[in-house]
Amino acid sequence: MPQQVQTGNGAQLFSNPRAASADQEYGPALREILSRHAFVSAREAITQWPGYQPTALHELNSLAQSLGVAQVYYKDESTRFGLGSFKALGGAYAVNRLLVRELRRKLGNPQLDVADLARAECQAAVRDITVTCATDGNHGRSVAWGARNAGCRCVIYIHETVSKGREDAIASYGATVVRVPGNYDDAVRRAAEDAATHGYFVVSDTSYPGYMDVPRDVMQGYSVMVQEALDQIGDKGLPTHVFIQGGVGGLAAAVCAHLWETLGARRPKIIVVEPEKADCLFQSAVAGKPVAVTGDLDTLMAGLACGEVSLLAWDILLPGAAAFMTIPDETAPDAMRRLAQGGTGDRPIVAGESAVAGVAAARIVAADNGWREALGMDEGSRLLFFASEGDTDPELYQRIVGRSAAEVLALEAV
Ligand SMILES: Cc1ncc(COP(=O)(O)O)c(C=O)c1O
Repeated sequence: MPQQVQTGNGAQLFSNPRAASADQEYGPALREILSRHAFVSAREAITQWPGYQPTALHELNSLAQSLGVAQVYYKDESTRFGLGSFKALGGAYAVNRLLVRELRRKLGNPQLDVADLARAECQAAVRDITVTCATDGNHGRSVAWGARNAGCRCVIYIHETVSKGREDAIASYGATVVRVPGNYDDAVRRAAEDAATHGYFVVSDTSYPGYMDVPRDVMQGYSVMVQEALDQIGDKGLPTHVFIQGGVGGLAAAVCAHLWETLGARRPKIIVVEPEKADCLFQSAVAGKPVAVTGDLDTLMAGLACGEVSLLAWDILLPGAAAFMTIPDETAPDAMRRLAQGGTGDRPIVAGESAVAGVAAARIVAADNGWREALGMDEGSRLLFFASEGDTDPELYQRIVGRSAAEVLALEAV
C-alpha cells in the first residue's frame, strides 16, 4: 500500500504504514486493554439487562451491487435497548462496573459482582453514589440509563449546541442535565470540576493518562455488538472490510480488537472514517502519535466531533487499522437518504448522521479505482458496517431525510 495521504472527492485516504501484518497475533499487551476474556464478563452482564436483544444484521444486496462488492452486512444499532445507538452498551456497562468497584470498597466485599447490584444491601448503598459525564448526546444517554437501572444518581453535562431533543432524552432517565456555555471540551471541564467538588464519579468514554479503567469498560461493552455480528454472519462468508466511524476511537478500537483476537489472520481490514473537521485519529495516524485537533470541530456528524483520541483506543488502532479516511460533511445526508430509500430488495433503514460515515466512505472508495485497489476492495469483497445510531435527533433526521423514522420504516422495500 502507498503510504502518503491521498485526496479526492473531498475525502482523504491514508494507508497505515504501521499496521501489523495479517498473521501478527493479537498479543498480550493488547489483551491488557480489550480481550475476549473480559468480553465474556461483559456479555454475561449485558445479556441479563431487561430488554436485551441482539440488533438486526441486514444483508443489503442492492447497496452491495452499487458499491461493486459481493456483500454488504449492515449491523443496525438504531434499536439498541430503545436508546437508539450502540452507546447503550458502553456507558451503562461502565456504570455497572464502577458501582461494583465502589461497593466492594464500601461494603468490604471483594467478591461482589455485577449480578449482586440488584441485592437490597447494594441497592441501598448505590443510592448515595452519583455518576457523571459530559456528552453531546449518546454517551450521556447511556450513562443516565445505566444509572437509572442500577439505582444511583446521575448528573450529565451538555454544551451549548446539544439539541433540546437530546437533552430531553437524557433527562427522561431521571438524570439532572446541566447545560454549559461553550463547546464539548468546556462541558468536560465543568463535569470534572463538579465531580471533584461534589465527589461524583466520572464515567467518560475517552481515556487519558491516569484514567483508563472506565473507558476500557465502555469499549468492552461495545464488543458485545461485534460478537453478535459474527454470530449472525455465521458461515455466510466473513467480512473482508469494515468501514467504521471514529470519534475518540473507542468504537473502532472495540471492533478492531474483537475481530483481530477472534479471527486472527482471517480478520477484515479496518478502515477508520472521520469527518474532515474532526479528524484526530487520521491526523494521529499520519503523525504516528496522538495529535490533538483544535477548532470548533463543527460537523453534522455530532457523535464524531472529537478533537483528541482516546489513548487506549489509539494503542489498538495504531497496529490494528489498515487505513484512515476523512469524509466531507455533505456525504452524510446523501448516505442517510440512500439508506432510507432502500433499493431493489433492500429494506428502508433509519440511520443517523454519525451512523452513516462508514457507508459514505465506502461509496467514495467504490467510485475511485485507485482507492479500491489501495484497499483491496473488489467484486469479491464483503463489507461490514456498524450503523451506530438511528434518529437520535428526530427533528434533524426528518429535516435531512424528508421523512420521520416511522415514515421510513413504513415504506415497503421496493
Ligand atoms: C452514533 C455514534 N457513532 C460513533 C461514535 C464514535 O464513537 P467513539 O467516540 O468511541 O469513536 C459515537 C460517539 O459518540 C456516536 O455517538
